[in-house]
Amino acid sequence: MPVTSPQQFIRPLVKRLHAYVPGEQPQIPDLVKLNTNENPYPPARPVLRLTRAAVDGRLRLYPDPTAARLRARLARLHRCRPENILIGNGSDEVLALAVRAFVEPASRRSRKPQVKSLVQYFTPSYSLYPVLAEAHGAAHNPVPLPPDFDLPGLGTLRRGRRWRFNAALTFVTTPHAPSGRGYATRTLEQFCRAQQGLLVLDEAYVDFAAEHALELALRYPHVLVARTFSKAYSLCFQRVGYMVGHAELIAALHKIRDSYNVNGLGQIAAEATLDHLPYYRANFRRIIATREKLSRDLTRLGFRVLPSQTNFLLVQPPRYPAEDWLKRLRDRKVLVRWFRTPDVSRYLRITIGTASEAAILVRAARAVLAGHSSPG
Ligand SMILES: Cc1ncc(COP(=O)(O)O)c(C=O)c1O
Repeated sequence: MPVTSPQQFIRPLVKRLHAYVPGEQPQIPDLVKLNTNENPYPPARPVLRLTRAAVDGRLRLYPDPTAARLRARLARLHRCRPENILIGNGSDEVLALAVRAFVEPASRRSRKPQVKSLVQYFTPSYSLYPVLAEAHGAAHNPVPLPPDFDLPGLGTLRRGRRWRFNAALTFVTTPHAPSGRGYATRTLEQFCRAQQGLLVLDEAYVDFAAEHALELALRYPHVLVARTFSKAYSLCFQRVGYMVGHAELIAALHKIRDSYNVNGLGQIAAEATLDHLPYYRANFRRIIATREKLSRDLTRLGFRVLPSQTNFLLVQPPRYPAEDWLKRLRDRKVLVRWFRTPDVSRYLRITIGTASEAAILVRAARAVLAGHSSPG
């Protein structure tokens, strides 16, 4: 058959796929960038020094395929064994590996999705989950959260009849994104006990929260916790995340990952990060203090600010629709995030930057409300 179009080579599943849409990374001078939940503070100086020092003849060599030193360091930190840890190219990769390792692609013959092919998550939450399910040919079960974004109780889930306690894989973002709401470990544990399929607790923002639930991954054989160096540890650029859980689940994930999935400089930077935790913990405290002050300042301006245990705020702006606010703030060189999806389209998500970035945002918001035209 003659080749008529490159399209004929692309799998129907890939043609249909709605790709994940990452936040913009614009190169605009003096832009206050509060759209992708990056940390406003740089990595600790020794982390930069050690990473730079590794840029030498070693670049011709493959990195450690098992990231053994980093896994050993993390195991010490989390009081588990290196066998309980898998490192990934960002936590996005470990989430994708979990779908590939634990969920069967849906059979085209069966009309009703089978639980073994079901990826389940609450909506709204991290918009990558449905993409991972679709890319794998799995079915997905998005279950709406209540308007306050709290975890529904087990009784509510049972009565709602939508939730599948035996779905092959369930993602729970905790603390929740994009609302910022924190969930108590006690509540998550009740949830774990009721869920029969695998449960991934995505703790991407947990360092800014009051509690974490890592212990659940070490206590229950069907619970995994995903973490990242991106947000709290100022390492988005290096792409290092990890998953913690039962050694047999982790071994299954190792089997299907790329041999050298974690780049060498990323491994070095992440290891060095673990040597300087007090520096990062001081940054968490600064970010939390800025978050609390920004909440108060925006509330005073008429924004409805949702309580947050993360490094971002979800806010409902006054007077204009949220999409308008996005443009009006952008005109003033402040970039925040707006999601088109109906469940959050009336909100803006604002990353917590430095105290001075927060002050610039508040000034810009005040100018928008005063109806001043943008400076140009
Ligand atoms: C809830 C959640 N999980 C995971 C990630 C992935 O982070 P990374 O791949 O940088 O580790 C993000 C990034 O935005 C996120 O918001």
